[in-house]
Amino acid sequence: MISPQEAHVITTTTAQKTSLPSKAEVLASLEPLVERNMARHIEERKLWMPSDFMPASEQMTAEEERDLRELPDRVRGIPDAVRVSLALNLLTEEGLPHFHRLIAVYMGNENAWSRWNFLWTAEEDRHGCVLHDYVRDTRLFDMKAFERLQYQYLEAGFDPDWHDDPYQLLAYTSLQERATQAAHANTGKLASKHEPMIQRILGHIAADESRHFRFYRDAFIGLLEVDPTRAMESALKVMPRLAMPGHTIGGYIEMAEVVRRAGIYGPRDYRRVVAECLESWGIADLRPEDAAGREAQDKLMAVPARLDKLSDILERRTKSKSFSFDFIYRRGISFE
Ligand SMILES: [Fe+2]
Ligand SMILES: [Fe+2]
Repeated sequence: MISPQEAHVITTTTAQKTSLPSKAEVLASLEPLVERNMARHIEERKLWMPSDFMPASEQMTAEEERDLRELPDRVRGIPDAVRVSLALNLLTEEGLPHFHRLIAVYMGNENAWSRWNFLWTAEEDRHGCVLHDYVRDTRLFDMKAFERLQYQYLEAGFDPDWHDDPYQLLAYTSLQERATQAAHANTGKLASKHEPMIQRILGHIAADESRHFRFYRDAFIGLLEVDPTRAMESALKVMPRLAMPGHTIGGYIEMAEVVRRAGIYGPRDYRRVVAECLESWGIADLRPEDAAGREAQDKLMAVPARLDKLSDILERRTKSKSFSFDFIYRRGISFE
């Protein structure tokens, strides 16, 4: 929630100029909100380190040494479709430089948003680290094949078509955090039937993503309070077709298809993410004063039904198919 004083600043600025404030001005007015939410985030988080799960030290206990030694045997049963999901989750996490850059470009420097960007980046970095340590120490993947994908993904860059609109970044990050949370949690659930450590790791990552989601969600709620029409118009640009961060990864479409067919994450899950965002942003309860706002609101509220329709079509068209990937030794993964 923004305070009445902060709302007053925006209203006064708007009235004085008789035109809308720039989006950068609106974001600057939200900085006190960002500071408060960041303080809440720091107070409530439990900061863990990758080596809490994958220890590496010459002073490891005998038990830790044994657990690490046994890990490669214990992961053998993890199905290849779940490995593909783990690879996609890890690659997405390793795309962190793309996201740090986008937040810095869109939200500026030396302000509350950039302080959040540093904190958020430090937290996210552990996700890629711990998963990378896990897949390496368990020999889950052919690491060189996997590293090639990671290299290509970073080298390809990631430039979503947001037209210099920082509101789209805030809508995107809300959706993306919730989507990655679901993907990690669902992967962990399936993998844990074979090896429990990975579920603990993915559970901790998913909990981080949930707290990140709360930060971006509340920032977007603040935005809706002071600039509802433009906030909804921006959300409408990213919501119907979320450009997943990994879509520039070689073989991304096939990997996403395996993950969908394995029931781990797909358009139905994304629809749930969208519905939850609309609900928690309170879109249905807004009373836009202008026609553009009412139009954006109606279109946003129609997105879940549209996604349902697309999922129906996709599922109807799904035929049996086999997939194979270099990083899991080109073994065939078949779906009836
Ligand atoms: Fe993450
Ligand atoms: Fe996150």
